[in-house]
Amino acid sequence: MADFKKVGIVGIGGLMGHGVAQVTAAAGYQVLGIESQQSALDAGVKRIDDSLSKVVARNVKKGVYDEAAGAAEKAEIMGRISTSLDINDASSCDLVIEAIPENMDLKLEFYKNLGNIVESNPDCVFASNTSSLQITQMAEISGRPDKFVGLHFFNPVQLMKLVEVIRTDHTNDETFDKMITFGKKIGKTTVSAKDTPGFIVNRLLVPYLTQAMAMVDRDEASIEDIDVSMQLGAGHPMGPIHLSDYIGLDTCHSIIVGWQKDFPKEAAFIMPECLDAKVKAGDFGRKTGKGFYHWDGEKKGERVE
Ligand code: CAA
Repeated sequence: MADFKKVGIVGIGGLMGHGVAQVTAAAGYQVLGIESQQSALDAGVKRIDDSLSKVVARNVKKGVYDEAAGAAEKAEIMGRISTSLDINDASSCDLVIEAIPENMDLKLEFYKNLGNIVESNPDCVFASNTSSLQITQMAEISGRPDKFVGLHFFNPVQLMKLVEVIRTDHTNDETFDKMITFGKKIGKTTVSAKDTPGFIVNRLLVPYLTQAMAMVDRDEASIEDIDVSMQLGAGHPMGPIHLSDYIGLDTCHSIIVGWQKDFPKEAAFIMPECLDAKVKAGDFGRKTGKGFYHWDGEKKGERVE
């Protein structure tokens, strides 16, 4: 089973895309980061640079290597990442990981186009990092459903140890096995998931987050008390309101909108009023500097009154 030589990451500018590009390059793969706008490409490269600086500083502090070796390692990883504004360049890759916005129409259009672009490279595998959309639909429109998986990472990709590998009824064994191997090579624990709403993690996590927001709607507890309760009472690294802000309220919102449309009878898929109001006001949490809490970059501040 031949390994991948060059991995295309479409959407390298985003929260997930830059992290996936970083861990892939750090594992020794050549990476081609693709974006449609120069500003997004620049933002992605800067995010990777900043994150690698943190990794190096931590390793120097731990005595893994000295500053010079850390700088050399960082330069080596950055050197494996090339970039492009032209999706046609994906034809030079043998794995393309897509991390574009969570909109099914956009993704279907993207995969129809990508299938044509990569037609001359029949072994190229496609992997979507969607957090909640159906993989089968994308696989079918791509023209290579047997070489298509979901590859769902978690935020922050650099630190979270899991990747879900989602196979559809069309995915062949070789592709699935290759992707499990790829997940392990980039340092993640892999789990195998089916093409069900939210796969494993989000099917459990998102209803939990929205239940916490429903408590806010019912004025049953303050957001700080909900967060501290789940941190100290259940051992979670972040409470649910904090985590929702961290993931992005727009992301939580769009997952629920999609699920309610596709599974209207599923009682677990609720839209809390406070979530809907925040998103309509453009307050998406960490990424906009304001959600349930104020944010200064990565740092959570006081609650929004
Ligand atoms: N890159 C590199 N290093 C980073 C980093 C990044 N992006 N972010 C943080 N670090 C480093 C920090 O610099 C810090 O280094 P030092 O120890 O040298 O200071 C170290 O990592 C630990 O960071 P923090 O002290 O800031 O944070 P922490 O120990 O509290 O852990 C966390 C941070 C891992 C995010 C933890 O709070 C956590 O696990 N939170 C829950 C995250 C979670 O649940 N994610 C899944 C969301 S769901 C999802 O993503 C799926 C979806 O589809 C919606």
